[in-house]
Amino acid sequence: MGYRILETDDIPGYLHERGHWPDVTDIHVREVSDGNMNRVFLASSTDGTRSVAVKQALPWVRVAGPSWPMSPDRADAEARAYDQIARVAPDKIPSVHGYDPENYALVMEDMSDLEVLRTLLNEGAAYGPDTSARIGELVARLSFATSDFGMDSASRKALIAASVSPELCKITEDVVLSEPYIEHEHNHWHQDLTDLASEFRADTRLRTEVADLRHLFMTSAQALLHGDLHTGSIMVGEREGTPVVRVFDPEFSFVGPIGFDLGLYWANALVSEERARALGRLTDHADQLRLSWEAFEREFRALWPTRVDTFFDDAYLDRFLRRVWTESLGYAGTEIIRRIIGFAHLTDLTTLPDPVPASRRALLLGRELIVRRAELTGPQEVRVAVEQG
Ligand SMILES: Nc1ncnc2c1ncn2[C@@H]1O[C@H](COP(=O)(O)OP(=O)(O)OP(=O)(O)O)[C@@H](O)[C@H]1O
Ligand SMILES: [Mg+2]
Repeated sequence: MGYRILETDDIPGYLHERGHWPDVTDIHVREVSDGNMNRVFLASSTDGTRSVAVKQALPWVRVAGPSWPMSPDRADAEARAYDQIARVAPDKIPSVHGYDPENYALVMEDMSDLEVLRTLLNEGAAYGPDTSARIGELVARLSFATSDFGMDSASRKALIAASVSPELCKITEDVVLSEPYIEHEHNHWHQDLTDLASEFRADTRLRTEVADLRHLFMTSAQALLHGDLHTGSIMVGEREGTPVVRVFDPEFSFVGPIGFDLGLYWANALVSEERARALGRLTDHADQLRLSWEAFEREFRALWPTRVDTFFDDAYLDRFLRRVWTESLGYAGTEIIRRIIGFAHLTDLTTLPDPVPASRRALLLGRELIVRRAELTGPQEVRVAVEQG
């Protein structure tokens, strides 16, 4: 029948046809799209015992409409990432009930009982002891399993080929890893940050370091990434007294440098910390980079004895993890900067009564993380850089 764009009223019939919903007389559907890119619908039965979420990629950017075309293949990338994560960390993503490649539509677990982490943090909530550790574990499991340590060489080459995602990678290469450092129509910032934005554009050392991270992003096929692991791609809550952490929206997934996933998470945690500092309500913000790194490292080391290629010895593991650490810091820096003087900004800062002091601190920290990433050898050194800001 071909690709059809689903509207709210089409969802009952669609779910029935696809075998996800037996009784179309008992279904309530609402659209909850709040991102830029895709449509999301929630469907539930009257008594609430049955519910699912439907996410469809349109052939354009949702908020822009047909004037900004974008391949719906991003839904394939999302389905592929969920498929890989489900093998190693099924409790950390929504369960996927089915993917329909003809309509670029994913039917998955309804997580509306959970809350987006960014929303909670912006409201003043603490992370709690679990969230960052679960994120570190997820990155370790996904990246180990899809690296040359967890997968035989031929299967890896097939995964790399299948996961090539030129359009979405190009967005990151431009929006995150170059535009903020040049004059570009996408860039915008608070008028009181003009001096720093100009200073960053004129900073040739910074630019060369960003070029290094950008080239690494383009060429380093270490493992399958989530690709957009910010606090708006994480839901948290509690089910039957147990903390739940779910990562979603992996449409930017491709095989790239592991540090990109950790770095995005760290950047968002550090910006959230600056928001809390500005409002005088710091909680456990300072622990999050360390907790996620320690969990990542612990899990990666625990998996190491299962590696498929033992030519990679224990000394190599130490070297590899050190590199991932350093690269993660660099990517964290680029994510902080682009979220303040680049295209898409963060509500963490934009909703502050005065976003300027927190934004300045964050921008300067971002630059430190990029240019001094080789000297910042552990979470404690990063803490010093944050506190000195
Ligand atoms: N499985 C789900 N259950 C409940 N709500 C969901 C689910 N998936 C998505 N949502 C809601 O829809 C919103 C948008 O989802 P998502 O981030 O996946 O879409 P997107 O268009 O890719 O967003 P972005 O433009 O940020 O990339 C989420 O913030 C969340 O509120
Ligand atoms: Mg998305």
